[in-house]
Amino acid sequence: MLSVAKHLKLSMRPSWLHGDKERTTKTNGIQRFSIFDIRILILFRISVLVFRASPVATLVPIPYNHTEAKGVATDLSVQLAPKHPKGLLLANPVLTASGTFGYGTEYSALVDIQRLGAIVCKGTTLKPREGNLQPRLAETACGVLNSIGLQNIGVHALIKEKAPIWATWQVPVIVNIAGETVDDYVQLAKALDGVAGVSGVEVNISCPNIGAGCIEFGAEPALAAEVTAAVRSATTLPLMVKLTPNTGQITRVAQAVADAGADAISLINTLKGMAIDIAKRKSLLGNRTGGLSGPAIKPVALAMVYEVAGVVKVPVVGCGGIMTATDAIEFLMAGASAVQVGTATFANPSAPLDILEGIEVFMKKEGMKSLKGLVGITRK
Ligand SMILES: Cc1cc2nc3c(=O)[nH]c(=O)nc-3n(C[C@H](O)[C@H](O)[C@H](O)COP(=O)(O)O)c2cc1C
Repeated sequence: MLSVAKHLKLSMRPSWLHGDKERTTKTNGIQRFSIFDIRILILFRISVLVFRASPVATLVPIPYNHTEAKGVATDLSVQLAPKHPKGLLLANPVLTASGTFGYGTEYSALVDIQRLGAIVCKGTTLKPREGNLQPRLAETACGVLNSIGLQNIGVHALIKEKAPIWATWQVPVIVNIAGETVDDYVQLAKALDGVAGVSGVEVNISCPNIGAGCIEFGAEPALAAEVTAAVRSATTLPLMVKLTPNTGQITRVAQAVADAGADAISLINTLKGMAIDIAKRKSLLGNRTGGLSGPAIKPVALAMVYEVAGVVKVPVVGCGGIMTATDAIEFLMAGASAVQVGTATFANPSAPLDILEGIEVFMKKEGMKSLKGLVGITRK
């Protein structure tokens, strides 16, 4: 814990966690966190992530008050896989981002997870992974660098231990899969096919934190298409492919995975980044480099979503630095059919639900009856 505190440089008081009114005041009946609370919560959440000590269930749930949006006859539902025979119909467009919300189970006592559009679970590999060398998290201006390295329990334990819990939930769970070879992805997809509790697969070809595979597939249109086509033929589940911003050809990669059978495309994963402790002359991360997330990457993510939504016909799911409802609405206006909320949940576990409420309130004020009125409005 001390090392986490040290590497988070807590004395820096990051303005992006408490900088504007929307993030700090009591609005819509929801008590926001004080700066002190936020800092404690970050430490707590990150310690859970890093050390897997999880006393979350003992905490008092944060009340979710829907007052301002109550009575709104707004249709927030979104079909994420319109071309898929079974489809992937979500009650609303707010998902959690992979790797930032565990398996969902860790949060079920904290927030009403059943109200989410979907949960995307942490990156899953064929075999369990311990992840990268510590330290694996470092705070930067307006963001967080992580080099977790896909620490996870492996797909077989996931099927045995997590899927039976998900099968009892109303909220759909999408499993994020990552591999070093095309065959890894195929085996993962086959293993998950038909498993009760698994509603879809998110193919992660974008993780910057593992030695082989993964991001290498996401940077090249032909390789991205190869993985997508292989996974498509290995599973009947709806398929979302998650893209990396660490490529010069994001629209070509997007077009290639759409053509290869992706039902939806999510973007972006983290941007490769680094921070150095000048006293020690060493990287702040054990893995030397990591992936940057949080508000710092939002303009990059937004532009990429805007560009990708202009070239593909499948639904686009926007992700990257979404901290508030305003951020999420920007992504929807740029052409995203749904959004994923990641780093924001470290500061406020109920951020995805606050964002959902804010979208509803905005739509009500603007007289929008369904998401169709909002999605891509900036493109017109
Ligand atoms: C600690 C951490 C772990 C992550 N793990 C994964 C992962 O396992 N699989 C994945 O596809 N993305 C992973 N991501 C990337 C996020 O899902 C998301 O794409 C990225 O953080 C940008 O969104 P944000 O700025 O809202 O966090 C991780 C991000 C963080 C911060």
